[in-house]
Amino acid sequence: MPRTKLLAGNWKMNKTPQEALALVQGLLEALPETRHTVAVFPPYLALERVVDAVGDRLLVGAQNCHFEAQGAFTGEVSLPMLSEVGARAVLVGHSERRQFFGETDESVNKKTKAALAAGLIPFVCIGETLPERRQGGYLALLERQLRAALDGLPAAAAGGIVVAYEPVWAIGTGVTATDGEAEEVCALLRALLGRLYGEAAAGIRILYGGSMNAQNAAGLLASPSIDGGLIGGASLKPQAFAAIVAAANEVAAD
Ligand code: 13P
Repeated sequence: MPRTKLLAGNWKMNKTPQEALALVQGLLEALPETRHTVAVFPPYLALERVVDAVGDRLLVGAQNCHFEAQGAFTGEVSLPMLSEVGARAVLVGHSERRQFFGETDESVNKKTKAALAAGLIPFVCIGETLPERRQGGYLALLERQLRAALDGLPAAAAGGIVVAYEPVWAIGTGVTATDGEAEEVCALLRALLGRLYGEAAAGIRILYGGSMNAQNAAGLLASPSIDGGLIGGASLKPQAFAAIVAAANEVAAD
Protein backbone atom coordinates (compact mmCIF):
# COMPACT_ATOMS: atom_id res chain seq x y z
CA MET A 1 0.00 0.00 0.00
CA PRO A 2 1.76 3.22 -1.10
CA ARG A 3 1.86 6.06 1.41
CA THR A 4 -0.49 8.95 0.65
CA LYS A 5 1.15 12.36 0.45
CA LEU A 6 1.25 14.89 3.26
CA LEU A 7 1.27 18.60 2.48
CA ALA A 8 2.02 20.75 5.49
CA GLY A 9 2.09 24.53 5.80
CA ASN A 10 4.44 26.05 8.38
CA TRP A 11 3.20 29.59 8.92
CA LYS A 12 6.21 30.49 11.09
CA MET A 13 5.82 33.80 12.98
CA ASN A 14 3.14 35.12 10.67
CA LYS A 15 -0.54 35.92 11.26
CA THR A 16 -2.32 37.23 14.33
CA PRO A 17 -5.17 35.00 15.52
CA GLN A 18 -7.66 36.95 13.44
CA GLU A 19 -5.45 36.93 10.36
CA ALA A 20 -4.87 33.21 10.85
CA LEU A 21 -8.59 32.56 10.85
CA ALA A 22 -8.96 34.49 7.59
CA LEU A 23 -6.06 32.56 6.06
CA VAL A 24 -7.42 29.16 6.99
CA GLN A 25 -10.90 30.08 5.77
CA GLY A 26 -9.37 31.14 2.45
CA LEU A 27 -7.46 27.90 2.36
CA LEU A 28 -10.53 25.77 3.02
CA GLU A 29 -12.25 27.48 0.09
CA ALA A 30 -9.29 27.11 -2.25
CA LEU A 31 -8.31 23.52 -1.49
CA PRO A 32 -9.27 20.85 -4.00
CA GLU A 33 -10.82 17.58 -2.84
CA THR A 34 -7.98 15.27 -1.95
CA ARG A 35 -7.25 11.89 -0.46
CA HIS A 36 -3.91 13.21 0.75
CA THR A 37 -3.36 14.75 4.19
CA VAL A 38 -3.19 18.53 4.49
CA ALA A 39 -1.73 20.07 7.64
CA VAL A 40 -1.16 23.59 8.92
CA PHE A 41 1.13 24.83 11.67
CA PRO A 42 -0.11 28.25 12.82
CA PRO A 43 1.48 30.26 15.65
CA TYR A 44 0.48 29.10 19.14
CA LEU A 45 -2.01 31.88 19.73
CA ALA A 46 -4.00 31.00 16.63
CA LEU A 47 -4.14 27.25 17.22
CA GLU A 48 -7.49 27.07 18.95
CA ARG A 49 -9.28 29.22 16.37
CA VAL A 50 -7.79 27.32 13.48
CA VAL A 51 -8.67 23.96 15.06
CA ASP A 52 -12.27 25.12 15.52
CA ALA A 53 -12.46 26.38 11.94
CA VAL A 54 -11.13 23.28 10.18
CA GLY A 55 -12.93 20.47 11.98
CA ASP A 56 -11.40 17.25 10.69
CA ARG A 57 -10.55 18.56 7.20
CA LEU A 58 -7.00 19.51 8.13
CA LEU A 59 -4.43 18.32 10.61
CA VAL A 60 -3.40 21.22 12.86
CA GLY A 61 -0.09 21.35 14.67
CA ALA A 62 2.18 23.65 16.67
CA GLN A 63 5.59 24.89 15.62
CA ASN A 64 7.42 23.93 18.81
CA CYS A 65 6.87 22.60 22.33
CA HIS A 66 8.69 21.98 25.58
CA PHE A 67 9.48 18.38 26.49
CA GLU A 68 8.36 18.72 30.11
CA ALA A 69 4.64 18.53 30.86
CA GLN A 70 4.71 21.51 33.22
CA GLY A 71 7.01 23.47 35.49
CA ALA A 72 9.17 26.52 35.91
CA PHE A 73 9.99 27.17 32.24
CA THR A 74 8.87 30.75 31.71
CA GLY A 75 7.57 31.42 28.24
CA GLU A 76 7.40 27.80 27.15
CA VAL A 77 4.37 25.79 26.00
CA SER A 78 3.84 22.17 26.97
CA LEU A 79 2.42 19.26 25.01
CA PRO A 80 -0.64 18.83 27.28
CA MET A 81 -1.47 22.50 26.63
CA LEU A 82 -1.22 21.94 22.88
CA SER A 83 -3.22 18.77 23.06
CA GLU A 84 -6.03 20.43 24.99
CA VAL A 85 -6.54 23.08 22.31
CA GLY A 86 -6.72 20.39 19.65
CA ALA A 87 -3.22 20.37 18.16
CA ARG A 88 -2.44 16.87 16.88
CA ALA A 89 1.08 17.41 15.63
CA VAL A 90 4.17 19.45 16.44
CA LEU A 91 7.25 20.56 14.51
CA VAL A 92 10.43 19.50 16.29
CA GLY A 93 13.90 20.79 15.51
CA HIS A 94 13.06 23.17 12.70
CA SER A 95 16.33 24.73 11.48
CA GLU A 96 15.17 28.18 12.58
CA ARG A 97 14.82 26.84 16.14
CA ARG A 98 18.25 25.23 15.89
CA GLN A 99 19.80 28.39 14.42
CA PHE A 100 18.16 31.11 16.54
CA PHE A 101 16.89 29.43 19.72
CA GLY A 102 19.54 26.94 20.74
CA GLU A 103 17.69 23.77 19.76
CA THR A 104 20.09 20.83 19.92
CA ASP A 105 19.97 17.22 18.78
CA GLU A 106 19.44 16.32 22.43
CA SER A 107 16.43 18.58 22.93
CA VAL A 108 15.02 17.42 19.58
CA ASN A 109 15.27 13.85 20.82
CA LYS A 110 13.50 14.67 24.10
CA LYS A 111 10.74 16.60 22.32
CA THR A 112 10.21 13.80 19.80
CA LYS A 113 9.72 11.22 22.53
CA ALA A 114 7.58 13.56 24.64
CA ALA A 115 5.33 14.38 21.69
CA LEU A 116 4.74 10.70 20.97
CA ALA A 117 4.03 10.00 24.63
CA ALA A 118 1.49 12.85 24.62
CA GLY A 119 -0.21 11.46 21.52
CA LEU A 120 0.97 14.15 19.08
CA ILE A 121 2.75 13.47 15.79
CA PRO A 122 6.28 14.89 15.87
CA PHE A 123 7.47 16.27 12.54
CA VAL A 124 11.20 15.79 13.05
CA CYS A 125 13.12 18.34 10.98
CA ILE A 126 16.70 17.92 9.82
CA GLY A 127 18.82 19.66 7.21
CA GLU A 128 22.32 20.77 6.27
CA THR A 129 23.60 24.32 5.84
CA LEU A 130 25.22 25.53 2.63
CA PRO A 131 28.80 25.25 3.97
CA GLU A 132 28.00 21.74 5.18
CA ARG A 133 26.73 20.78 1.73
CA ARG A 134 29.74 22.31 0.01
CA GLN A 135 32.16 20.49 2.30
CA GLY A 136 30.70 17.16 1.18
CA GLY A 137 29.90 14.57 3.81
CA TYR A 138 26.38 16.00 4.13
CA LEU A 139 24.76 12.60 3.76
CA ALA A 140 26.66 11.31 6.80
CA LEU A 141 25.77 14.49 8.67
CA LEU A 142 22.06 14.11 7.91
CA GLU A 143 22.19 10.49 8.96
CA ARG A 144 23.78 11.56 12.26
CA GLN A 145 21.10 14.22 12.76
CA LEU A 146 18.28 11.76 12.23
CA ARG A 147 19.87 9.06 14.39
CA ALA A 148 20.34 11.60 17.19
CA ALA A 149 16.74 12.82 16.92
CA LEU A 150 15.43 9.27 17.15
CA ASP A 151 17.93 7.90 19.67
CA GLY A 152 16.27 5.36 21.96
CA LEU A 153 12.94 5.48 20.14
CA PRO A 154 11.52 1.93 19.94
CA ALA A 155 10.19 0.56 16.67
CA ALA A 156 6.74 0.30 18.18
CA ALA A 157 6.62 4.11 18.48
CA ALA A 158 8.52 5.00 15.33
CA GLY A 159 5.53 4.62 13.01
CA GLY A 160 4.03 7.71 14.67
CA ILE A 161 6.60 10.18 13.40
CA VAL A 162 7.03 12.27 10.27
CA VAL A 163 10.50 13.22 9.04
CA ALA A 164 11.10 16.49 7.22
CA TYR A 165 14.28 17.05 5.21
CA GLU A 166 14.76 20.79 4.91
CA PRO A 167 18.11 21.89 3.50
CA VAL A 168 18.82 25.18 5.27
CA TRP A 169 20.12 26.76 2.06
CA ALA A 170 16.72 26.22 0.42
CA ILE A 171 14.57 27.69 3.19
CA GLY A 172 13.08 31.05 2.33
CA THR A 173 15.71 31.61 -0.32
CA GLY A 174 13.76 30.78 -3.46
CA VAL A 175 16.50 28.25 -4.22
CA THR A 176 14.87 24.84 -4.21
CA ALA A 177 16.78 21.58 -4.09
CA THR A 178 16.50 19.92 -7.47
CA ASP A 179 14.29 16.86 -7.65
CA GLY A 180 17.46 14.76 -7.77
CA GLU A 181 19.09 16.47 -4.78
CA ALA A 182 15.96 16.08 -2.66
CA GLU A 183 15.44 12.49 -3.76
CA GLU A 184 19.06 11.56 -2.99
CA VAL A 185 18.65 12.57 0.65
CA CYS A 186 15.11 11.28 1.14
CA ALA A 187 16.11 7.88 -0.30
CA LEU A 188 19.02 7.75 2.15
CA LEU A 189 16.68 8.61 5.04
CA ARG A 190 14.19 5.97 3.90
CA ALA A 191 16.94 3.35 3.89
CA LEU A 192 18.14 4.45 7.33
CA LEU A 193 14.61 4.26 8.77
CA GLY A 194 14.28 0.77 7.31
CA ARG A 195 17.52 -0.32 8.98
CA LEU A 196 16.45 1.20 12.31
CA TYR A 197 12.84 0.09 12.41
CA GLY A 198 12.23 -2.63 9.83
CA GLU A 199 8.60 -2.90 8.79
CA ALA A 200 7.51 -0.18 11.20
CA ALA A 201 9.35 2.31 8.98
CA ALA A 202 7.01 1.71 6.05
CA GLY A 203 4.37 4.07 7.42
CA ILE A 204 6.76 6.95 8.17
CA ARG A 205 6.38 9.82 5.75
CA ILE A 206 9.45 11.74 4.62
CA LEU A 207 8.77 15.31 3.52
CA TYR A 208 10.90 17.76 1.59
CA GLY A 209 10.91 21.43 2.61
CA GLY A 210 12.62 24.51 1.20
CA SER A 211 11.07 26.92 -1.27
CA MET A 212 8.50 24.42 -2.48
CA ASN A 213 5.90 26.20 -4.59
CA ALA A 214 3.17 25.67 -7.16
CA GLN A 215 5.74 25.46 -9.96
CA ASN A 216 8.22 22.96 -8.53
CA ALA A 217 5.88 20.83 -6.39
CA ALA A 218 4.90 18.28 -9.02
CA GLY A 219 8.49 17.26 -9.76
CA LEU A 220 9.42 16.97 -6.11
CA LEU A 221 6.25 15.12 -5.15
CA ALA A 222 6.67 12.66 -8.02
CA SER A 223 10.04 11.56 -6.63
CA PRO A 224 9.74 8.04 -5.24
CA SER A 225 11.18 8.75 -1.78
CA ILE A 226 9.37 12.08 -1.18
CA ASP A 227 6.04 11.68 0.59
CA GLY A 228 5.07 15.32 0.74
CA GLY A 229 6.18 18.82 1.53
CA LEU A 230 6.73 21.16 4.46
CA ILE A 231 5.95 24.51 2.97
CA GLY A 232 6.69 27.96 4.37
CA GLY A 233 6.12 31.02 2.18
CA ALA A 234 3.72 29.39 -0.29
CA SER A 235 1.51 28.12 2.54
CA LEU A 236 0.60 31.72 3.39
CA LYS A 237 -1.14 32.08 0.01
CA PRO A 238 -4.28 29.94 -0.29
CA GLN A 239 -4.07 29.66 -4.09
CA ALA A 240 -0.42 28.65 -4.06
CA PHE A 241 -0.90 26.09 -1.30
CA ALA A 242 -4.00 24.73 -3.03
CA ALA A 243 -1.98 24.37 -6.23
CA ILE A 244 0.58 22.27 -4.37
CA VAL A 245 -2.19 20.00 -3.09
CA ALA A 246 -3.52 19.80 -6.67
CA ALA A 247 -0.03 18.79 -7.82
CA ALA A 248 -0.06 15.97 -5.25
CA ASN A 249 -3.45 14.87 -6.56
CA GLU A 250 -2.02 14.72 -10.03
CA VAL A 251 1.21 12.84 -9.34
CA ALA A 252 -0.34 10.44 -6.84
CA ALA A 253 -3.87 9.95 -8.07
CA ASP A 254 -4.36 6.51 -6.55
P1 13P B 1 9.96 28.11 2.62
O1 13P B 1 8.96 27.24 1.92
O2 13P B 1 9.49 29.51 2.84
O3 13P B 1 11.32 28.01 2.01
O4 13P B 1 10.11 27.50 4.12
C1 13P B 1 10.34 26.15 4.27
C2 13P B 1 10.24 25.82 5.70
O5 13P B 1 11.09 26.21 6.50
C3 13P B 1 9.09 25.04 6.15
O6 13P B 1 9.26 24.61 7.46
